[in-house]
Amino acid sequence: MNKMYVRFALSILLAAMLIGPVIAKDDHDDSPIVKHMERVASNYKKLRRQARRMKFDDTSVKMVAQMQIHVIGAMHENFEVAEKLSGKEKKLMILNFRKDMSKLVKKLLDLEIALLEDRKADAKRMIGELAKHKSDGHEKYTEEGGES
Ligand code: HEM
Repeated sequence: MNKMYVRFALSILLAAMLIGPVIAKDDHDDSPIVKHMERVASNYKKLRRQARRMKFDDTSVKMVAQMQIHVIGAMHENFEVAEKLSGKEKKLMILNFRKDMSKLVKKLLDLEIALLEDRKADAKRMIGELAKHKSDGHEKYTEEGGES
């Protein structure tokens, strides 16, 4: 009976050792830029829902502020497409990336003011425009070229 328990416990331990790293992998493997972008994406998703219903509340400005912070964070991280280049080409890629990211930051700052001034239609339009920043940015600066 005791042997059975030991075998059972050992097989649980073995399974945990095998499955654990697979489950934990996603979090640990994400690069800093992906972590920032995921925070941008989760707030963006909620904001789009609010924009669809034209129902903004106290959380809206907070979400936009979070997005601003994480876009600025992402702006200063390495990204794969640039890391594969070198010299002048790499420098230019990073410069263009920062220019495009700064356009996104500016849009998010304008969006914050629109929300604070309760200009709902403007806020809705700007939230719609974020999709273009995303698709253009991903097309130029990610391996998937806009699929993510
Ligand atoms: C509202 C706008 C945006 C959202 C919601 C967004 C969302 C995301 C998400 C969810 C990821 C992670 C994808 C993955 O799982 O690998 C990602 C990665 C990334 N995004 Fe964005 N993004 C936005 C705008 C932009 C812009 C404007 C740029 C560039 C100017 C950009 C550049 C990148 C890069 C370089 C990565 C990392 C790809 C890699 O090397 O793994 N994103 N983004």
